[in-house]
Amino acid sequence: MSPVPAPSRLEELSPDELAIYRQLDPERLPKHIAIIMDGNGRWAGQRRMQRFFGHQQGAESVQFVVETASRIDLPWLTLYAFSLENNLRRPQTEVSFLMRLLRTYLVANVKRMNDNNVRIAYIGRVADLPREVQETMQWAAEQTARNTGTTLTLALNYGARVEIVDAMRNALTKIAAELDGKLSLQELLAKFSEQHISQALYTAHMPDPDLVIRTSGEMRISNFLLWQIAYSEIYVTDRFWPDFRGLHLLEAIREYQCRERRFGGLGNPPKTKSIEQEQALIR
Ligand code: FPP
Repeated sequence: MSPVPAPSRLEELSPDELAIYRQLDPERLPKHIAIIMDGNGRWAGQRRMQRFFGHQQGAESVQFVVETASRIDLPWLTLYAFSLENNLRRPQTEVSFLMRLLRTYLVANVKRMNDNNVRIAYIGRVADLPREVQETMQWAAEQTARNTGTTLTLALNYGARVEIVDAMRNALTKIAAELDGKLSLQELLAKFSEQHISQALYTAHMPDPDLVIRTSGEMRISNFLLWQIAYSEIYVTDRFWPDFRGLHLLEAIREYQCRERRFGGLGNPPKTKSIEQEQALIR
């Protein structure tokens, strides 16, 4: 017996969101969207508030965007929530605040994630985060593990270069063990492929992002998913993250659908006319 399809949740979109969704081709929705959430501090600065308020408001945006993503059945949403560089270069008071905010966010939103069939996961050097933060993360992951809708992946204490370093260490250790010294270094290197690296990244189980969104107008990738975004479309909006909503996610998808993805090829060349069409033009 074939499984009964899940009922559509499109009627849960707001009228504005639905109006944009109707302009989309449902056959060509991205499978994976990754977002560099930026501009919390500037959002707060514009309102003469402390940076912390920007982060707090940014956490609200996270939940709004996740829920819209789940309503349109986006399989994968990855958010850059805390980079290795944030951890190393921001004042300790801000880092501690972000850690507390993450825990509060998880505790406050697990029920909503379950109501929206959202599963939460993490990438990054999470073992270096404070123990109580890791415990809350693990708890939220367990509470949402059985959900089958959108997988929300938070990149935490994440840096793409160290991800590649970690991946290379894993891949080489595995290969060395498998080959058990039977091959020469040259034979081993000849066998080493892109796949070995892809399968050793934190994201091995996910498709590469189709679309990367960055808020606050900066034209940078900031050490985010460097390997995985080789062929992703990039969409930058001037809007600060605390003002970003599901509606803006749908606008980004609309722009994405206007792009021609070529993956290094020639794309769809214009169709050549049939002889009959050519003759009709001459007549
Ligand atoms: C950039 O703003 C954003 C971050 C450093 C972290 C993102 C964090 C959040 C959205 C809030 C919490 C998230 C979760 C998942 C609970 P910025 O401080 O770099 O802004 P600026 O460039 O304007 O200073």
